Amino acid sequence: MKTPKDWVLVTGASSGIGAASVDALIGGGFGVFAGVRRDVDSKALVTAHGPRVVPVRLDVRKDRDVLGLVARLRRSLRARRLHGLVNAAGIAFAAPLEWTSPADLSLLFEVNVTGAFRVTRAVLPRLRADRGRIVNVSSGAGQVTAPGTAAYSASKFALESLSDGLRLELASAGVHVSVIEPGAVATPLWERLEAQMARVEREAPAASRAAWKIPWANVRGVLAEARALATPAPAVARLVVEALTAEVPRARYSATPKAELLAALAMDDAERDRQTLLDWGLTPRES
Ligand SMILES: NC(=O)c1ccc[n+]([C@@H]2O[C@H](COP(=O)([O-])OP(=O)(O)OC[C@H]3O[C@@H](n4cnc5c(N)ncnc54)[C@H](OP(=O)(O)O)[C@@H]3O)[C@@H](O)[C@H]2O)c1
Repeated sequence: MKTPKDWVLVTGASSGIGAASVDALIGGGFGVFAGVRRDVDSKALVTAHGPRVVPVRLDVRKDRDVLGLVARLRRSLRARRLHGLVNAAGIAFAAPLEWTSPADLSLLFEVNVTGAFRVTRAVLPRLRADRGRIVNVSSGAGQVTAPGTAAYSASKFALESLSDGLRLELASAGVHVSVIEPGAVATPLWERLEAQMARVEREAPAASRAAWKIPWANVRGVLAEARALATPAPAVARLVVEALTAEVPRARYSATPKAELLAALAMDDAERDRQTLLDWGLTPRES
């Protein structure tokens, strides 16, 4: 089998959108550096894809791992191209902000924002030299904020802003930057989210838990509804490949029901609040 000339680095390759992107990229003839955190995930990737995948130990919070990644890319790429970076590593989080600890918020930003930035910054010299592309996996939550998922939204809004900045700053170098904005996607993220939601609920003070009983049940209901309608991960992976291969890639690829998102963005704040509260079954208290 011929070794591919063009390679893409995918973070969060062990599962969900990252794993589906690895499959789609290899199917499209690319070689993939796959960022994973466990040996078992490295082995599974090599078993599935053979020499077209090079697993790399990568916790995006760790400078040491990122240094190792850069050395690995240098050794393995030699005259081959780094065609792209896909920042798919990420974590979700749902809780009223009242139940969100500073440590919870920091972890979200450390993985979803600083983590993506740390990896991007480290591989940028190589992407610039190879005129590669960057694809950041954001979310519909990076465009609109909803009750119960605001901390997660805050991290995705930050990722969107960094992506816009990178797109502008790298335009003259010919390095395209795109964001993917999925709605709900059928991945293991939802089981992880379920465990996290149970934890914050357990840890919330009793009085606050009582105050949040009905709205929290409604937030849970909205999330369960979204999960039931989730898009399969390969559909999102196709957008990742499109962003990496289109002659003129778009700044944003939305997999969120577009009409709803555009309608939400077009509303003024008061109108959007009213509609969101209605959708979430929350009633504002009259003074
Ligand atoms: N699923 C959805 O409904 C949905 C919707 C919109 C946006 N997204 C976004 O899509 C991205 C991928 O999510 P997913 O649905 O594919 O979730 P997933 O199946 O839970 O996959 C998350 C991936 O991120 C990795 N990861 C987590 N923390 C990491 C860290 N510190 N360093 C390196 N890797 C880390 C995980 O690795 P381990 O296996 O080692 O933990 C895993 O590979 C996320 O950014 C998420 O916000 C998902």
